[in-house]
Amino acid sequence: MRSKITIVGVGNVGASCALWLAKRGIADLMLVDIPAAKTMPVGKGLDLLQAGPIEGYNARVRGNADGSYDGAENSDIVIITGGLPRKPGMSREDLVGANQQVIVDVLDKVLPRSPNAVYIVVTNPLDTMTYLAVKHSGLPKQRVIGQAGILDSARMAAFVAQELEVAVENVQTVVLGGHGDEMVPLTRYSTVFGRPLTEWLAPEKLNAIVERTRKGGGEIVNLLGTSAYYAPGAALAKMAEAVLLDSRLIVPASTYLEGEYGLSDICFGVPVKLGANGVEQIIEYDLTGEEKAMADKSVKIIRETMSALKM
Ligand code: 2OP
Repeated sequence: MRSKITIVGVGNVGASCALWLAKRGIADLMLVDIPAAKTMPVGKGLDLLQAGPIEGYNARVRGNADGSYDGAENSDIVIITGGLPRKPGMSREDLVGANQQVIVDVLDKVLPRSPNAVYIVVTNPLDTMTYLAVKHSGLPKQRVIGQAGILDSARMAAFVAQELEVAVENVQTVVLGGHGDEMVPLTRYSTVFGRPLTEWLAPEKLNAIVERTRKGGGEIVNLLGTSAYYAPGAALAKMAEAVLLDSRLIVPASTYLEGEYGLSDICFGVPVKLGANGVEQIIEYDLTGEEKAMADKSVKIIRETMSALKM
């Protein structure tokens, strides 16, 4: 049996994710979008299919027209990218009203077709939309995951590698917390070739990297006039691969907490082990007083955003 991943929303993020996944050749891809997108998913699917002989991948890629979900049945993974992206001057939190409707609508259509899938959400505001997806779907919390920390950690790793002129493979970074400007980069758990970042970089350089990481999404919004997509798409593909191959990859991701990190009834970015069941394990790190204070700030913002949900 071939595995299937349905991608709902094939704008920039969804299409980039489809490309990264097609190149891996680990699953067939079903592309779906809203009726207003008309035949766009069909076109993108066909285009990706035709790249297969050149790139040497065998993924069967199919897209649907006019908002149809036909063929999204029995997906192993559903990736939800749908929703409005940010424009310059907007925070992720500004999107809550519009994107709540999108998440609810998507789940109502895809869930009956793929009740056993693992769901990965990337729609912003990320932690709030992941929370909404957990609650609205009624799925076991392990099977609804928000993509954020892997992207934020990658941004930090890219900046560190650039600053130190080392290969990105030598850099391991850990960014926890909500996917917003109050995210929590953990510098003492971040390393270059096993040595903590604090020993590689002077405090002011390290602080500058932390700040740039926190605003990493916004930096790209200002440059592009819309949200980033190559790195978010790659992050989604990596998470989907870990689930599909049951690889037990540890990444930071937004997950529903029930007491871990002293938090409950919230989706928050923490290290999780990804496998066939989605979140196989939540890994708890000890936080210093300063790190805890940063996490508390991030939690406060998420809870404020969650209060705007109409549930
Ligand atoms: C970002 O940080 C899309 O929220 C995403 O770029």
